[in-house]
Amino acid sequence: MSIAAERSNGPFGARVTGVDLSRALSEPEIARVRALWLQHKVLAFPGQAMCDDDLERFTLAMGGFGDDPFFDPIDGRENIAAILREADETSPLFAENWHSDWSFLDHPPAGTCLLAVDILSTGGDTLFADQQAAFEALPDGRKAYLRWLTAIHSAQLAYAPEGTYGERDQGRSMAIRPNETARETRTHPLVQKHPETGAECLYSTLGYIIGIEGMEQSEAIALLSELAEWQSREEFIYRHKWEPDMLVMWDNRAVLHKATGGYEGHRRELHRTTIAAWQP
Ligand code: SIN
Repeated sequence: MSIAAERSNGPFGARVTGVDLSRALSEPEIARVRALWLQHKVLAFPGQAMCDDDLERFTLAMGGFGDDPFFDPIDGRENIAAILREADETSPLFAENWHSDWSFLDHPPAGTCLLAVDILSTGGDTLFADQQAAFEALPDGRKAYLRWLTAIHSAQLAYAPEGTYGERDQGRSMAIRPNETARETRTHPLVQKHPETGAECLYSTLGYIIGIEGMEQSEAIALLSELAEWQSREEFIYRHKWEPDMLVMWDNRAVLHKATGGYEGHRRELHRTTIAAWQP
């Protein structure tokens, strides 16, 4: 069996076959999967009957576990969170805004793995937006300007006590744990050289980015809002459709992602791990 990748029907992303993720991968297999991940940015592995042990082993092979603040893990695990919505839930969808996972950390996760546990084959698509393509498509003068900017990241709008998932967010089945540490800020360049490919990418977006160093707040928000529109233009988007027994892994340094609805009245559960920041 050899590992094969078929391009998705979108501008990036690939479907990978010829590998069984319910067993330990060899070193050449790990290297091949990582190379495909860097090339395609989002990989979907169909037909993988994986359990949580398999998900953990795969995540360790891809780079180890990242930190996951603001979620409680599922019972009996330290590094797996459930992305869960019960059939009768009425709270707003989780993660319905574009973001790069935990970009407000000192060392944000290189990637994220999401394993379908209980899904419908319609609705609940995950959207991805290519931030290398979004940067490349900008005029040269704009690129030069953005390269100088340092973004201020924070989880406060989402995970502070008064945030989207804070004290007012009642009736949610996911184990989200807002707290005061969400107010902390950290800076990252607005345009980052991907640490493994060297490609320049717009990193993260309005929401987890709450300002620009040295810029008036009103000017910063206007710039970030305009940029957010650009970052999520149709031509940069791959719409991922889920299948039962599917694992998806994406590169947080190169793409933004967001959840979508369309499965009202049905339960949806996926198990999620993050892949630690890359250490050369
Ligand atoms: C996430 O952002 O981790 C969840 C994406 C989804 O539910 O499709």
